[in-house]
Amino acid sequence: MNRKYRKVIIAGNWKMNMLPSKVKRYVEELRGAMPKFKTCNIVLCVPFPMIPNLRKATRDSRIAVGAQNVNEHEKGAYTGEVSISMLEDLNVKYVIVGHSERRQYFGETDFTVNAKVKSLLDAGIVPIICVGESLEQREFDLTMEHISYQIKAALHGLAPEQVRKCVVAYEPIWAIGTGRTATSEQAQEVCEHIRAIIRRGYGARVARSVSILYGGSMNSQNSAELLSMPDIDGGLIGGASLDPAEFARIIEATDQE
Ligand code: PGA
Repeated sequence: MNRKYRKVIIAGNWKMNMLPSKVKRYVEELRGAMPKFKTCNIVLCVPFPMIPNLRKATRDSRIAVGAQNVNEHEKGAYTGEVSISMLEDLNVKYVIVGHSERRQYFGETDFTVNAKVKSLLDAGIVPIICVGESLEQREFDLTMEHISYQIKAALHGLAPEQVRKCVVAYEPIWAIGTGRTATSEQAQEVCEHIRAIIRRGYGARVARSVSILYGGSMNSQNSAELLSMPDIDGGLIGGASLDPAEFARIIEATDQE
């Protein structure tokens, strides 16, 4: 982490879990367990039907409301989709873009990721851009090439001032939901690489202000070590964010360096 130049962000990704009726209770428990002093920016990226309840429950708190996906088009005949202005209307501040599960199961490409990033920035919503290599790519020593490609595609056509507003999440696919976390050295190496690509494309001032998160089996046991790395500015947390007490411990870990 480097608090001097960038935001520390702990974001929960509930994926397709939880129920709208359980949101209030979750937030009460989280607020009860969370450290009272300001440590980091906290975001909960929840399924669409839970956004109104989350918004209500987090009013007067420092928990920001996030979504897990959005459609890049403004409006129209896209049955089943949710637009950016709908999320904006609900005061959503962050949206996950290009999560590996969406790339794998729902045909999200680097080009749709780019379109979503642009439209979100235009609406003043922060995209959390997910990148990460598969196990095969790591074993074939293609991690850095793959990550470079994903980052360049996601940020294509953006002005430096827009890139500054983005958040990147490095999530090695082999570490997601597997209990197999990347070592802090592996995660740092890739996060440092991501910052270097941004530096090359948009300059040092932009690169040093982009928050880069790690995601993939992060929990209260390994978070302090991951967060002690210079280029890891927070976490995108799946499984461990479903338990408010556990999520609060990860938030607390941002204070341990
Ligand atoms: P995990 O998921 O923490 O359950 O591995 C992280 C993510 O997919 O964002």
